[in-house]
Amino acid sequence: MKAIRYYRYGPPDVLQLADVDMPAVGDDELLIRVRAASVNPLDWHFMRGAPQVIRLMAGPTRPRASATRLGADMAGSVEAVGGNVTGFRPGDEVFGGLEDRGTLAEYIAIRHDGAVLVKPPGLSFEQAASVPVAAFTALQALRDRGQLRAGQKVLVNGASGGVGTFAVQIAKAFGAEVTGVCSTGNAKMVASIGADQVIDYTREDFTRAGRRYDLLIDIAGNRSLSQTRRVLVPKGVLVAVGGPDKGRWVGPLARSARMAVLSPDAFLPGPAEQAGPGRAARAARRREGHPGHRPGLPAGRRGGGHALSGNRARPRQDRHHRVTQPGATGRQHRGRDTGQHTARPGQAVSR
Ligand SMILES: NC(=O)c1ccc[n+]([C@@H]2O[C@H](COP(=O)([O-])OP(=O)(O)OC[C@H]3O[C@@H](n4cnc5c(N)ncnc54)[C@H](OP(=O)(O)O)[C@@H]3O)[C@@H](O)[C@H]2O)c1
Repeated sequence: MKAIRYYRYGPPDVLQLADVDMPAVGDDELLIRVRAASVNPLDWHFMRGAPQVIRLMAGPTRPRASATRLGADMAGSVEAVGGNVTGFRPGDEVFGGLEDRGTLAEYIAIRHDGAVLVKPPGLSFEQAASVPVAAFTALQALRDRGQLRAGQKVLVNGASGGVGTFAVQIAKAFGAEVTGVCSTGNAKMVASIGADQVIDYTREDFTRAGRRYDLLIDIAGNRSLSQTRRVLVPKGVLVAVGGPDKGRWVGPLARSARMAVLSPDAFLPGPAEQAGPGRAARAARRREGHPGHRPGLPAGRRGGGHALSGNRARPRQDRHHRVTQPGATGRQHRGRDTGQHTARPGQAVSR
C-alpha cells in the first residue's frame, strides 16, 4: 500500500509517497481503509524535528524506523475486523485517530476500543477527518480544564484556526457567551460560526479592552501571562492550548513551562495547560481532577459525535489535497489559512 513517510527531518520536500507493507490486523483491531486524513501542527513538528524535544521522541538526528509515520486523524471505512471485535462490521464508516501516528496511509489498523467512532452520516469523510485532535483539544480545554458552564463569558484567542473554530462552536453549544479573537479576514467567518463578539487583533488589543471573562482559551498564546490574566474575572481560568512556534528546545511548550513555574498550585500538566489568576482560583483548580489525555476521540463505538450529527458543531475546511505530491500538501498546510487541511490518499485509492 501507499503511505506518506519521511526519513529525515526538514521541509515538506522530505515527505515521500512510499510503498509499505499492509498493517497486520490483530484480534482486537479493525483494518480501516483511509478515505481522508487531516494534517495538524503535530505533523509539522515531527516532520521538521523541531522543537528539539520532538527528537527525544522520534530520534536525535533522523526519525527512527518506528517514527517515520505521520498523521493523527482519519476517516474511512472498515475493511476487516479481528476475531474479538463485536462492535464494528466491514463497511462501517468511521473516524478517529492513532496516538502513535500513521493515518497518512491507504490503510491503518486500530484497536476497536481505541479512538474510533462511527461517522455521523451527515459528515463527509473529509469533514470527519478534520475533527479528532483539533475538536477534542477544544472540548478538553473548555469542558475538562475550563469547566465551562452555561452563561459564562469565554474568550477564544485564535478563534479562526483549527482548534479555535471548534472552540467557538463547542462553547456556544455549552451555552456560553463567546468572544473570538482573529484577523480582519476571518472576522465574518468567526461570527458566522456563532461568536457573539469578534475582536480583530489587528485593530484592537483584547488585553486592553477592559472586558473580563470567566474563561480564556488561549490558542494563539502570543501574550504574556500577566497580560492574559488581566482579562479574567477574579476566579477566572486561563487554559493555554498553544503558543508561539519559536524557541529551539521546547517551542510552544515554553509557555506551559512558565505557567508551571509561576502557578505551580494551579498547573495541571497536559496538552491544554491551565493557570488560575489568584489564590481562590488556585484552590478551585486543586479540586479539579486530572482528565489525562488521548490525542483523538474518547473511545467508543456507536452513538459518538452527537454534536456533529445534531449540526451543533461543523468542521471548517480550506482545502483538500490528493496525496500524489506530499511535499505540496505539506507546504500548503503551512500557508496562512483557516480550519483544517485534509489529505486523501493517492489516485489509486481515491473515491
Ligand atoms: N490543531 C490541533 O489539532 C492542535 C491540537 C493541540 C494543540 N494545538 C496548538 O494550538 C495552536 C494553534 O493550532 P491551530 O491548529 O488552531 O492553528 P491555526 O489553524 O494556524 O490557527 C491559529 C489561530 O491563531 C490566530 N492568530 C494568529 N496570530 C494571532 C494574533 N496575533 N492574535 C490572536 N490570534 C492570532 C489565527 O487567526 P488568523 O488566522 O485570523 O490570523 C488563528 O485563529 C498551536 O500552537 C498548536 O500547536 C493544535
